[in-house]
Amino acid sequence: MYALLKPLLFSLEPELVHDLVMKGLALTARQKPLLEIVRRYCAVPDSRLEVTAFGLHFPNPVGLAAGMDKNALALPIWSALGFGFAEVGSVTAHAQPGNPPPRMFRLPSDEAIINRMGFNNHGAGMVAQTLGRWQRSHGQPRVPLGINLGKSKITSLEDAPSDYLLSLARLWEYGDYFVVNVSSPNTPGLRELQDKARLEELLGAVMGFVKLQAHAKPLLLKIAPDLSESQLMEILELTDRHGVAGIIATNTTVSRDGLKTNIEQAGGLSGKPLKTRSLEVLRFLRAHSSLPIVSVGGISTADDVRERLELGAALVQVYTGFVYEGPLMMRAITRGLLGPAQAR
Ligand SMILES: Cc1cc2nc3c(=O)[nH]c(=O)nc-3n(C[C@H](O)[C@H](O)[C@H](O)COP(=O)(O)O)c2cc1C
Repeated sequence: MYALLKPLLFSLEPELVHDLVMKGLALTARQKPLLEIVRRYCAVPDSRLEVTAFGLHFPNPVGLAAGMDKNALALPIWSALGFGFAEVGSVTAHAQPGNPPPRMFRLPSDEAIINRMGFNNHGAGMVAQTLGRWQRSHGQPRVPLGINLGKSKITSLEDAPSDYLLSLARLWEYGDYFVVNVSSPNTPGLRELQDKARLEELLGAVMGFVKLQAHAKPLLLKIAPDLSESQLMEILELTDRHGVAGIIATNTTVSRDGLKTNIEQAGGLSGKPLKTRSLEVLRFLRAHSSLPIVSVGGISTADDVRERLELGAALVQVYTGFVYEGPLMMRAITRGLLGPAQAR
């Protein structure tokens, strides 16, 4: 069905389609009988797919990457569509509109997307309210919920730690794990938070908060694919020292290597062209660290997932693959992971 619908959807402006699809998913999520129909059709529960990572239990290792459901508007739909976990955000302490549109571009011949959304989101306070409403109406999420935090645009780099802390405090009760995102290319200066001195201060502040809480929760760091090996080594030293629970690798890239499409748009590139670099970063991190790694970038099939797990990723995430494969992607991936008998 998605094959029929896709040409129509792809003829419309990408962000408009994203907003329409999110509205449809949010509506479906609110109608419990409809949600259960989606679950019966798309989710493939099987104990052979279950994994444990950083102290959490996942029904399968494939999660929704940050950026799709920034404001948790459709939260219960992600488990019904078959994802083993979902990451909402990036959420910033202050609500913000993001960059002016157009800011999302499809590159169909590359199965890629360029975006410069710029952390458009409702802000930590409002997202906390939305999560509270879902909890009251639907109970605890059926799969682990990650909350990805970014820096508000109006906050200076010097004040970044307090911006992340404000979001963390507002959202703490709702997340199963948290992500400090210092790797989006679309907030000026944000990636400088990956530099040693700034990251030292930021991780010190957020891990200080985590350690004060009655129940510790895992905090992960999301990194860019455009870092050098020496920068990666510095980051590993800091994550070890501060007790970070894992690394999400990677965010979108500023590189345009290997693109077939001739396009000059600023922003982060995701999807198939990111795959090679994302794999390289996974291999490097695996060789130099024992931390759990969530591998993301260019994944869309069961074979992609298998490759990452075999290379030592604890979990994987998908964004762009879902746009190109559609709502049955997780059914195909989970059946594919279970073997040829289930793949039909
Ligand atoms: C339109 C769009 C918006 C995104 N927004 C965020 C975000 O807010 N925070 C974040 O950490 N990553 C964000 N990402 C990056 C994804 O989470 C993911 O790291 C990246 O797209 C690579 O995975 P993929 O190739 O499966 O898309 C965004 C990606 C896209 C395409």
